[in-house]
Amino acid sequence: MTNETEEQRHPFLKGLSKHRGAPPTVMVIFGASGDLTARKLVPAIFNLGVDNLLPGEFHLIGYGRKPIEDDSFREIMDEAIDEHSRRPLNKDIWERVRQNMVYHDGGYDDLDAFKSLAERINKIESDLGRDVQRLFYISTPPGVFQPIIKNLGRSGMAKAHVHTKIASKVIIEKPFGRDLESARELNSVINSVFEEPQVYRIDHYLGKETVQDLLVQRFANSIFEPMWNREYVDNVQITVAESLGVGTRGGYYDTSGALRDMIQNHTMQLVALTAMEPPVSLDPESIRDEKVKVIKAIQPLELKADGGDVVRARYTDGLVSGKPVKGYKEEEGIPADSSTETYAALRLSINNWRWQGVPFYIRSGKRMARRASEIAIQFKRPPGILFSEGKKFNVAPNTMVISIQPDEGVTLVMNSKIPGLETRTQPVKMHFRYSTTFGSNTPEAYERLILDAMIGDSTLFIRGDETEASWKLVTPILKHWEECGQNGLEDYASGSWGPLASERLLWEKNHQWRRSG
Ligand code: BG6
Repeated sequence: MTNETEEQRHPFLKGLSKHRGAPPTVMVIFGASGDLTARKLVPAIFNLGVDNLLPGEFHLIGYGRKPIEDDSFREIMDEAIDEHSRRPLNKDIWERVRQNMVYHDGGYDDLDAFKSLAERINKIESDLGRDVQRLFYISTPPGVFQPIIKNLGRSGMAKAHVHTKIASKVIIEKPFGRDLESARELNSVINSVFEEPQVYRIDHYLGKETVQDLLVQRFANSIFEPMWNREYVDNVQITVAESLGVGTRGGYYDTSGALRDMIQNHTMQLVALTAMEPPVSLDPESIRDEKVKVIKAIQPLELKADGGDVVRARYTDGLVSGKPVKGYKEEEGIPADSSTETYAALRLSINNWRWQGVPFYIRSGKRMARRASEIAIQFKRPPGILFSEGKKFNVAPNTMVISIQPDEGVTLVMNSKIPGLETRTQPVKMHFRYSTTFGSNTPEAYERLILDAMIGDSTLFIRGDETEASWKLVTPILKHWEECGQNGLEDYASGSWGPLASERLLWEKNHQWRRSG
């Protein structure tokens, strides 16, 4: 073992880190006693501290309904870092955050509790002798999003500082609404209190390195873009597969389902980044304009009880990684008459100049064979004149696979001659692996997203019109499924790649799902 630094072992890292200064900040996490705070948010804040990316003055206030003493809150967060941080707890660094970390208990609809929170922040400012940025992170169940936002307005905390003009910001976790109507309502409440540039709607998939790399792969290389269209692409397949089941989240999940939980947000973002036109610049609005445009170009889906462009299913018992697991209906908190899908697949048509006639197949499910998220661009075959065996044209289509997780990288599948005296071809793979080139300890999505919100870069957050465009597409599907009840809800065995019916979506167009991995 040598004492090489990460940068020496992976020289490509050099020069990639740039110092990004954030103004003095008081961050308030609503829902501070919740799971996300311990698993993701506080470990992310600690890791930003390790990278010296927190503002010189940084105060953290946990807000929750449960009364917790400041010291106990600090101890709970110590444990959270121990358990969930990608890097081990560094006491010196953590102490700098910890000493400025307190807990404030109060109800979400209790204006007095918000007023006393405002006083607490004012006190921090007067002790510092300067204005600070207020960053509110709403990580609560969605039922209290609106009261929190309204109380931030009523207590005066949403406003910018009068003299320094330092603005307040609000980060909102998913789910952003349940359908188009509720998303619109939430947007209008938010926009009655905050200006759109103050609002940061989270989709943690945008914080993933590989998802950000999609724009780089597409627009920093000249070899792919000329082929990224209907002339060369035969179909696109986007898979977001999880091997886990609903675990202890059955109560929430049964009111959501795969379409709301994964397709409307994460998967649709992957579609948008894959299909969008080149933005005129990398500024947030240019990128988000293009994403909205392409989501709006997706045609309404054909909905039929026994066919059409959508398939939904739920897992039965089966084997995942060799271990027996129970079916969805047997999971904790699932009502006997549940008709919630744990798998959804859609066939999308994007009706614009670039993509007309190229099907985009997307699927997402729980308890599938493996955890695998990928975007596969399948190109058209070359003319079937050469390399045929008898009447059979034996050349596989070229495929570019962008693997989002867990094995991050890009693979190009191409044809090669099998060594020997005959001329026979075989698909071979050209791999780029992130971990080999850049090392494996890349920042977690939440580190990037919290830092971006702190410095005011909204590129990786969802704009209000974007979320509405996506809900507009999926809401008719939700309504259709509600009307159908159990009718048309397929089964798939845990540990499989989904229901047989999802193959139909592709067979109808002479395609086939790629076996991921
Ligand atoms: C969340 C969903 O948004 O994303 C979960 O609510 C899902 O159901 C999770 O498991 C998947 O995220 P990741 O980063 O593990 O792919």
